[in-house]
Amino acid sequence: MNSFTQSTSFFGGSNPEELARSFGTPLYVYNEAILRDRMRHMQGLIRSVPFTANYSIKTNSNLTLLRIALEEGLSADAMSPGEIEFLLRAGFPQERIFYVANNVSDEELRFAIDRGIMTSLDSVSQLERFGRLNPNGKCALRLNPGVGAGHHEKVITAGKKTKFAIAQEDIDHAKIVANKYNLKIVGVNQHIGSLFMDATPYLQAIENFLQLAKGFEDLEFVDFGGGFGIPYRKLSGEKTLDIDATSKALDHICEQFAKEYGKPIVFKIEPGRYIAAESCVLIGRVHSLKQNAGVHYVGTDIGMNVLVRPSMYGSWHDIEVYRDGEVLSSDDQTAIYTVVGNICETGDILAKDRTLPIVRENDLLVVLDAGAYGYCMSSNYNNRLKAAEVMIGTDGLPQLIRRRQTLEDLFREFPGF
Ligand code: LLP
Repeated sequence: MNSFTQSTSFFGGSNPEELARSFGTPLYVYNEAILRDRMRHMQGLIRSVPFTANYSIKTNSNLTLLRIALEEGLSADAMSPGEIEFLLRAGFPQERIFYVANNVSDEELRFAIDRGIMTSLDSVSQLERFGRLNPNGKCALRLNPGVGAGHHEKVITAGKKTKFAIAQEDIDHAKIVANKYNLKIVGVNQHIGSLFMDATPYLQAIENFLQLAKGFEDLEFVDFGGGFGIPYRKLSGEKTLDIDATSKALDHICEQFAKEYGKPIVFKIEPGRYIAAESCVLIGRVHSLKQNAGVHYVGTDIGMNVLVRPSMYGSWHDIEVYRDGEVLSSDDQTAIYTVVGNICETGDILAKDRTLPIVRENDLLVVLDAGAYGYCMSSNYNNRLKAAEVMIGTDGLPQLIRRRQTLEDLFREFPGF
């Protein structure tokens, strides 16, 4: 079977046509069973030492997903007061939230300090700011292990070409500043970038990072960050990340470090994409077909406002075509299409030169792996409304988990209109 949605019974008791008719398009559709399964993979990643998986909510902050993460026993990391607030309202206790701040104001730091939320500072200047606000407090430092990895230069967050983290040569200065304010550095964290399918650079970075960690005496935790990849080309046979091998390697490294460090220490990771991406597909409708200079365009309602990854990073998302509730087989007759949205930019391209079964108007396109950095990066560009989100529960039934925006939602931001 070459359909992911069929082989996983993704839509439970519904088909995409019924969902599109009930909830409209574009529509983000989640599958609860897949989501919980991926959360459990990450929860069980390291077994040899005390361990916590933090769900990185920048990936997807739908409150229903956050509640499920809480139920599955995950902790979470946040990047902003908004993300912290979402986690608190979803029910996360403050000690299960880790604030990984970057270039933030006094107000933002105070927001976390007032709520007792552990905060990581990623420059000496931010540490100084934190020290002024919270002398004698506890905090973490984000360190640069010198090795980065990721699917695009824009998402590599360690090494030389990045704004993130404290470089090795600045660690002594950071310690002086911490002493000045009597700050206790109880954690160190890293995040080297997003999406690796081969864990080698991640493990290498962890080795470097743990060498740096040894230079801190009061650590209660070390946090390796996220970046675990998923196969975006699964329809053509791309394999998943070898979780078992990664798990074994991590177990070994952590056990060694725990022994050498000699004090109780908790190990953490911050996965986002691995947990959310494959649990969601994006359904859109084909509204027009056109040929221009030999290119066959499929015009849909999935613009760059709905899913920006392809136009922002040139990212690939597999696409299945559904007609009257049935998936079209890629063994049928195919053609090469450029799939585009309805936004006023030529770069509004979802998939370029893509081989698909012959597409007709009113077909539905089902875009796979849309759960990570999908909805959360969507926008109101061209005054288009943000999509609705539906979850297929473990009972196979669809439930609305975020309503579609209305035009009135947009007007609400303007005083006097
Ligand atoms: N921890 C920190 C500090 C991060 O900055 C990130 C992601 C994560 C964890 C989670 O990384 P993940 O496990 O999801 O790779 N918008 C891009 C990805 C940006 C990632 C930003 N940071 C994309 O659509 O590919």
